Amino acid sequence: MRAKVSDVHGKDCVKVAVRVRPFNKREKNAGSRCIISMVSSSITIQDPRDCHSSRTFCFDHAYWSHSGFIQNRCGLYVAEELGGRYADQDSVFQDLGEGILENALQGYNATLLAYGQTGSGKSYSMVGYGPNKGLIPKLCERLFQAIGDNLETRQCQVFFSMLEIYNEQVVDLLTRGSRIPGGLRVREEQQRGFYVEGLRTVPCESAVQVEQLMEQGTRARTTAATHMNANSSRSHMLIILQLKQIFSRENITKQSNVNLVDLAGSERQRSPGSEADRLKEGTAINLSLTTLGNVISSLADVAVGRKGIHIPYRHSVLTKLLQSALGGNSRTVMLATLSPADICYEESLSTLRYAERTKRIQNRAVINESPTERLVKELKAENTRLLQRLSRLGQEGRRANEETKELRQLLTHNELQIRAIQTLWEQHLQEALKDWEQQYANITQERRMMQMYPYILNINEDAQLSGMVKLFIQDGEWDIGLCDSSPRSISIKGLGIQERHAVFRNEQRRVTLTPLPGSKVIVNGNTVPKPTELQHLDRLILGSNCTYLFIGYPSERDVDDWSSYDYDYFQSELAAAEGIRLGESGPGSSQTDPLLLAVFYDYIQLMPMVAEANQMSQELNKGVEFELEIKNLVLSDSKGCDLMKDIVVRATSRALKQVWMWSKGKFVNRKFLMEELYQQHQLQKSTGNTVERCPVTELPREKDPFWDPVEPLLLGTAHFWLQSLAFRIPLEEQLEVLGSEGSEEAIIQAQLVPCTSTGLPLGEDDILIDPSELLGRRLDFQLVLDQCCGLRWIREASDRGVQIGFRLFDCCRNLFSPAVWHNVNPMLDHRVHFASLHTSQRLLDYLQSSAVVLELWGLQEGCTNLVSSLEGVRMTTEGVFIIEEPGTTDAAPADSAVLSCSVRALQQNLEELKGINSSLKKENRTLREQLSTAKNVRDSTRGQSVRPSCDAEFARSLKVFYHSMTSVRGQLQRLRRHRPSCVFPSPGGLRPAGAPAVCGRAVSPAEGFLRAAGTVRLRTQTGCSGHRSPETRAIRSLVLTE
Ligand SMILES: Nc1ncnc2c1ncn2[C@@H]1O[C@H](COP(=O)(O)OP(=O)(O)OP(=O)(O)O)[C@@H](O)[C@H]1O
Ligand SMILES: [Mg+2]
Repeated sequence: MRAKVSDVHGKDCVKVAVRVRPFNKREKNAGSRCIISMVSSSITIQDPRDCHSSRTFCFDHAYWSHSGFIQNRCGLYVAEELGGRYADQDSVFQDLGEGILENALQGYNATLLAYGQTGSGKSYSMVGYGPNKGLIPKLCERLFQAIGDNLETRQCQVFFSMLEIYNEQVVDLLTRGSRIPGGLRVREEQQRGFYVEGLRTVPCESAVQVEQLMEQGTRARTTAATHMNANSSRSHMLIILQLKQIFSRENITKQSNVNLVDLAGSERQRSPGSEADRLKEGTAINLSLTTLGNVISSLADVAVGRKGIHIPYRHSVLTKLLQSALGGNSRTVMLATLSPADICYEESLSTLRYAERTKRIQNRAVINESPTERLVKELKAENTRLLQRLSRLGQEGRRANEETKELRQLLTHNELQIRAIQTLWEQHLQEALKDWEQQYANITQERRMMQMYPYILNINEDAQLSGMVKLFIQDGEWDIGLCDSSPRSISIKGLGIQERHAVFRNEQRRVTLTPLPGSKVIVNGNTVPKPTELQHLDRLILGSNCTYLFIGYPSERDVDDWSSYDYDYFQSELAAAEGIRLGESGPGSSQTDPLLLAVFYDYIQLMPMVAEANQMSQELNKGVEFELEIKNLVLSDSKGCDLMKDIVVRATSRALKQVWMWSKGKFVNRKFLMEELYQQHQLQKSTGNTVERCPVTELPREKDPFWDPVEPLLLGTAHFWLQSLAFRIPLEEQLEVLGSEGSEEAIIQAQLVPCTSTGLPLGEDDILIDPSELLGRRLDFQLVLDQCCGLRWIREASDRGVQIGFRLFDCCRNLFSPAVWHNVNPMLDHRVHFASLHTSQRLLDYLQSSAVVLELWGLQEGCTNLVSSLEGVRMTTEGVFIIEEPGTTDAAPADSAVLSCSVRALQQNLEELKGINSSLKKENRTLREQLSTAKNVRDSTRGQSVRPSCDAEFARSLKVFYHSMTSVRGQLQRLRRHRPSCVFPSPGGLRPAGAPAVCGRAVSPAEGFLRAAGTVRLRTQTGCSGHRSPETRAIRSLVLTE
């Protein structure tokens, strides 16, 4: 093979460019801050939590596409002013695309990879949207232009292939046949390296043809995503352009492969929370991306001289196919795309680090000579030899008939082979052109139909796939559903779609949609049970999550731009119908807490997934129901402070009465495994293989994504305020345990009993007026859990149990009461003795401002009880838990600068307090003197000696006061829970006058709502109606306004 090593060593390092996109709608709503800045080709990222921390990276190119642009009349995004810093699609192409083209024309293999988190702009840069064409179409345009310009010197052939890697399966996006179960095989040949066996390669003659093939491929991707119920952001899209240049004059052929790769969203590599999932290893969804990371790291290590490093190309399909692109025979460019928003800091930083490693990779690119040309050359050479031998045979005059015949046969065979090789391209091209004409006719027909009839248009989570499917509603009645046999049917596939799902009726230019029994149809966020007339731009959700936009007759299309009706819009509308709503952000309105918005977006992201999981559970007969819960972490905070909110998914096995609580990450991971299982099930069904030895519906439990070993479940919490202990006042309370729905899970009867070191309760005379008297002294008290009443958990299923968990002050472990089973009102009789051997100011502050959070844990049959781990817990030999010892520092560990600041402030306070203290002491002394004089006078006059001291009387009133205070606090809490505060935040929504402020900061209406509700549990779609708490119902019905 003739090959020329390119340039001098070091010039084949992978080129890396970064691009920053504008804020998207979510980021704007969240009032995001831009944390990325650029100077020339260096880029700096600022840590949003620490203004002193930033990191700078240097790359080959850095593109600022965040600001300074306008949309011109043609819809192109261009720089606001001439020479502005905004990098448009053209400038990115000029730097990166032209280089790739140049390399390809020179005969090098070239690769362009787009890497970045979901929604960061990979597809925008690679493929583009509308008139803003990306690198791939621009590259093809320029390629065919260059081919046309060089017609005299060379003959060129271009082959186009498009494939997708999803869950380690290779799917040909241009295939004409049906999809191969399990995907195409990746094979290896010594000459070619890894390649996809049977991948369709289409000869192309023009950029228009390539664009049309790309559209065809994207359409195939869209249907694959709906049919397989798969998320395209998790798949890698590869376009392979093979360019063959035949230079007849020089008698050489150059062949280069151009790989254009739009990678899956990078954040999927490490979905938070899924780490703890026992089935995490079961999924291959991240394998390709993780392996790509490992390959890049290993190659970066090799580049810095580390020896003996294994490059794990073979671990995944993607890295096999990109072997030559990374560390091999290719000139490679990586475009790392970034979101500039503060909320994406972690992801952006990780992308930059990834890019930093990639730029160290060194390739060895060579100019490739085509093996086909060599073969032709070899055959021609052989023919010349054969002819010489033949003529020699003739000259020798010997009639070696046999030999001559054999040689002639060989000659003819060779001629045929040469002709076959040379005509292959022509033939293929003719076929492709025929195909293309057919496709072109389809497109023309589609355009004509769009001007004649109303239609529905698919809307996908990946904006790149939206609008790919158009289903026309012609005059008369049309069934829509899985059915494809009837001539008057519109066939769609997807989760929860029935054979005959609904009927479109188009009469007198009016279209109505009628759901058929048992099918789910949602129009503009609301489930419709009866015929509904559709209006232009109505949003339809059929089945679990097949989302379509209705486009009316051309005369009704007053608004032609449907881009604002994206996937988020559909889901927000659905959430609004559930009572969770984002209002419109008004001009000048304040921004909403980004944390709340993050919860909202998590919610709308998970909502369709939960609906799909429910549908899969139903179809696979799993009997498991999934529900979303917004958890307010205030329930677990000892100060009852407003903390973050979290979204969890509650999974309930109806038959077994088992309940699991999954984090978002774990659920997303499980959902993916469910999809895999569902796809297998579909395959078994379609191949009629119902007697399979292990049908997916009978999967062993350990492998079943719908199942987990049961674990104790946190049912709710109660706050038992400790203030009375600071006065050594005993307290007995009936505490309401608030569940995750904000509902009453149980009542706990509990006591706080100040006692002696041996556990004897203190008397009234031991009550303190001034808690500071405790400073430096020993304080003993007992927490007594008497009884639990009205346990909802046990009422629902009697084979369950409960335990109470709690933790005090600095105690590093949770302590648990013994388990009690099968009883709705069990006696607990659990008593724990705590002692502070040397009470500090910090402990006093804690007692006066905090509560012990009593956690009610639900036990299910088969799960192990919770045990108090005493590791690191200080105890006396008598079993008393020590919460503070002499010498324990008062200060919590903190950053030294902050610490010294607060120490200074505290010293100032102390000085002031000392002043107040001494004047109070003086006053106190005088009062005592007056009191004792008065007492003496009264005793002598009335002769009463049994009356308790005034101090004790005062202490008793204090006790009464604290009792009432606690009950008022309880009432207040209840009131707060039931207060009809109403809002999920509008982006930038205003706080209504009088909205509560807690913990020294203003509370947004949404926070009010979330705090009030404790946690909201909502059931999503799939007809799982059933139990709803009154709170939930109330919340659902509330219209959330600014
Ligand atoms: N440079 C840019 N200028 C304007 N809009 C952009 C730019 N980059 C991205 N966008 C917009 O951001 C949205 C998401 O971009 P895109 O679809 O390219 O993300 P992605 O990285 O491909 O995500 P996924 O991993 O989900 O496929 C699109 O609506 C796109 O129009
Ligand atoms: Mg994309």
